[in-house]
Amino acid sequence: MRDNAAILITGGAGFIGCHVVKRFVKNYPQYKIINLDALTYAGNLENLIEIEDADNYQFVKGDINDAAFIDELFDTHKFEAVIHLAAESHVDRSITDPLAFVRTNVMGTLNLLNAFKRIWENDFEGKLFYHISTDEVYGTLGETGLFTEETSYAPNSPYSASKASSDHFVRAYGETYKMPFVMSNCSNNYGPNQFPEKLIPLFINNIIHNKPLPVYGDGNYTRDWLYVIDHAAAIDLIFHNGRKGETYNIGGFNEWKNIDLVKLLCKQMDEKLGRDPGTSEDLITYVKDRPGHDLRYAIDAAKINEELGWEPSVTFEQGLKLTIDWYLENREWLEHVTSGDYQNYYKKQYN
Ligand code: NAD
Ligand code: DAU
Repeated sequence: MRDNAAILITGGAGFIGCHVVKRFVKNYPQYKIINLDALTYAGNLENLIEIEDADNYQFVKGDINDAAFIDELFDTHKFEAVIHLAAESHVDRSITDPLAFVRTNVMGTLNLLNAFKRIWENDFEGKLFYHISTDEVYGTLGETGLFTEETSYAPNSPYSASKASSDHFVRAYGETYKMPFVMSNCSNNYGPNQFPEKLIPLFINNIIHNKPLPVYGDGNYTRDWLYVIDHAAAIDLIFHNGRKGETYNIGGFNEWKNIDLVKLLCKQMDEKLGRDPGTSEDLITYVKDRPGHDLRYAIDAAKINEELGWEPSVTFEQGLKLTIDWYLENREWLEHVTSGDYQNYYKKQYN
């Protein structure tokens, strides 16, 4: 990407987005980074305090569903690249409100694609639309096997169906209009700044407050966990060195059954909080399963490893310790995001 290029990062006030924004603002002073975020319940400007005054950074509050506003923003800034993370991202919420996911994840992505195409279609040289997606588009694995970039799409939740749809549109714009794009499909992220509706931060918050830990079904579901800082590093590499028109799978080489992960988390939390061993495990409560619950995700990350030399930098035990430390040191952050609407969501989802 050329010096002075204006780069639009969408969803930069959310969990993964804030780490991508911070990395780009700090490492690439030659770019102008514009962070567009609607500040939904999942977006939080407290995630960005350390870079909010940087010369190469600007925050814009706005909705990707508003096509006229998006067009105006592209006219003003002439973004030469987009890194698109803004999305509705929680599977449980997609089960109760699928339309919100279609609006933002499908229509919102189309608004960005259309604006990018309108500005550059006469000269796409040096431009890039980078779409951030998920391994959930591949559906579920059985006990064995891995998702590769060639695995057929078979989304099972409204969330993954909406992400799959947006992936298809990005690819179609590449084929039809020769729009230069790249895409990555990542496994489950964990780390600082994740909203406590997702498994790990939800359970950390509940352990702090001695609340039940609601394990869905029998807990024998498997996910492949990646530390968010390693995801941001992968995005940086793909953005700068990935081949146009390609998809890269990103994963942690790190599969855990939910119940084993929860027990490890409980052990580490007891140590950190100085509680007797077993105290947090006693909070585990098996609850009604998630409808359409995917059994297992696991990524074959050979392509990004071999082509771009990427690999995770921390083990799961290290990453989990860093994550727990962050939440314990940032209790004000946790209190801010769990007041108000969060309480209503929690009651509806778990009572
Ligand atoms: P998140 O929910 O924490 O953050 C999403 C951000 O997008 C929030 O800041 C929110 O305010 C913003 N946003 C939502 N709707 C918007 C709209 N209409 N207009 C503008 N901004 C809007 O999500 P996340 O976990 O950081 O995920 C980021 C991206 O990465 C998503 O596209 C998600 O599908 C993908 N992803 C997430 C994971 C994961 O484990 N969290 C794994 C793989 C891929
Ligand atoms: O795989 C990538 C995906 O990972 C991302 O695309 C999504 O945005 C992200 O939310 C995540 O999806 P999951 O559904 O796997 O994450 P979640 O943290 O919601 O759940 C992880 C596992 O834990 C899953 O098997 C469901 C289970 N779970 C979750 C919650 C919130 C519970 O047992 N209890 C819970 O309360």
